[in-house]
Amino acid sequence: MRIAFFDTKPYDRNYFEAGARQEEFSDMRFEFSFFESKLNPATAALAKGHEVVCAFVNDKLDAKTIEALSAGGVKLIALRCAGYNNVDLQAVWGKIHVVRVPAYSPHAVAEHAAALLQTLNRRIHTAYNRTRDGNFTLTGLVGRDLYGKTAGIIGTGKIGKILATILHGFGMKILLDDLYPDQAFAQSIGGEYVSRERLYAESDVISLHCPLTPENKYMINAETLKLMKKSAIVINTGRGGLIDTKALVDALKNGKIRGAGLDVYEEEDQYFFEDKSMEPIRDDVLARLIQFPNVLLTSHQAFLTEEALGEIARVSLDNVRRWKKGEPQINEICYRCVDAGKASSCAKTTEGRCWAESKH
Ligand code: NAI
Repeated sequence: MRIAFFDTKPYDRNYFEAGARQEEFSDMRFEFSFFESKLNPATAALAKGHEVVCAFVNDKLDAKTIEALSAGGVKLIALRCAGYNNVDLQAVWGKIHVVRVPAYSPHAVAEHAAALLQTLNRRIHTAYNRTRDGNFTLTGLVGRDLYGKTAGIIGTGKIGKILATILHGFGMKILLDDLYPDQAFAQSIGGEYVSRERLYAESDVISLHCPLTPENKYMINAETLKLMKKSAIVINTGRGGLIDTKALVDALKNGKIRGAGLDVYEEEDQYFFEDKSMEPIRDDVLARLIQFPNVLLTSHQAFLTEEALGEIARVSLDNVRRWKKGEPQINEICYRCVDAGKASSCAKTTEGRCWAESKH
C-alpha cells in the first residue's frame, strides 16, 4: 500500500511511522514516500505509482491537481486534517475518494485559542522579549481581567464548545452563534445564542470556529469590524479566509479593536510551515500584520500537540485501511453531502453513507 505524503515535516514522518507500527495495522503493509513539497499541479506527478495521497491544509487539490493524480493512478486522498476547503470536491467526484480526520484533538485547538487570547491580553509576548533584554519595566503591559467580560464564539462545533467551556471557566459571559444552535450546550454553560450583530456588538473576545465556506468568506470585514467594541480581541484558529485581512489591518491601525490573535492567514500557503527568515516578506499585508504589537500570529500550529499528531496518524491510517479492505468508510467527504447543506456534518452523521452512495 504505497502512500505519498505531501508538505511533510519531520514530525509527520515520526508520528506516521510510529502509527504504522501499532498492532491495529499489523495486517497492512504500508510503504511511505514523504515529500516536502506542497501538492499542486506541478508536484502532483510525484504521486505517480501511489494508490493513496496524504495531503495537508495548504496542499492545493484543485481540478488540475486532481486530474494529474488520477492519471497517475491515485485512488484515495487521505487528508490529515479536518478542514477540506482546499479540495475541489466537484472535480474529485467520480475519480478519487476523499477522506479526512474530522477530529483529532479539538482540545489542542481550543487551548491554543485560549493561549493566544491570554498572551495578547496580558502582553506576555512583549514581557518575554523585555525580560530577556534585561528590561523589567511594566509600562504598556496593562491587561484586562477576563472575569466578567463577554466572549462571542462563532461556530459551536467540537472546538468552539471546548473554548466556550474554557472561557466560561474564567468567569466570562458566553454568547454563541451557529447555523445549528445547541441549546442544551448553551444552557450547560449559562450561554446564549444571539444574532451575529449582537455578538459583534457585545463581545470583548470574538473567536472563530466555523469552517470556511463560500457563504462565510470574509465574515469579519470592514462592516462587521465597525460593529465591534474598541476593547474587542479577535481570535482566529478557523481558516484565514474568514477574515478580510486588509480590513483587519485598517481596524488595528485605527485602534478600532484591541488586538488580534491569528493562527491562520488567508494567504498562508506562501509562508506557513517554512523558514522564510532570510528573505524579505513580499506579502505586504502579512508584513504589516506582524509589525503590530497587538497582533500575535502563529503559523497554523493550533493542532500541534503530541496527542493530536498521534491521533491524526492513527485515524488517517485507519481511513486508508478501511478503504483498502472495503470496510464502511466513516470519514469520507463528498460534494453531494456538502451541496445538501451537510458540509460540516457529512462525515459525522452519515456514517458509511457517502461510501455506499458513491458507486464509482
Ligand atoms: P465542527 O464541524 O465540529 O464545528 C463547526 C461548526 O461551525 C458546526 O457546528 C457548524 O454548524 C458551524 N458553522 C458552519 N458554518 C457556519 C457559519 N457560517 N456560521 C456559524 N457557524 C457555522 O468543526 P471543528 O472541529 O470545531 O473545527 C472548526 C474549524 O476549525 C474547522 O473547520 C477548521 O477550519 C478549523 N481547524 C483549525 C485547526 C488549526 O490547527 N488551526 C485544526 C482543526 C480545525
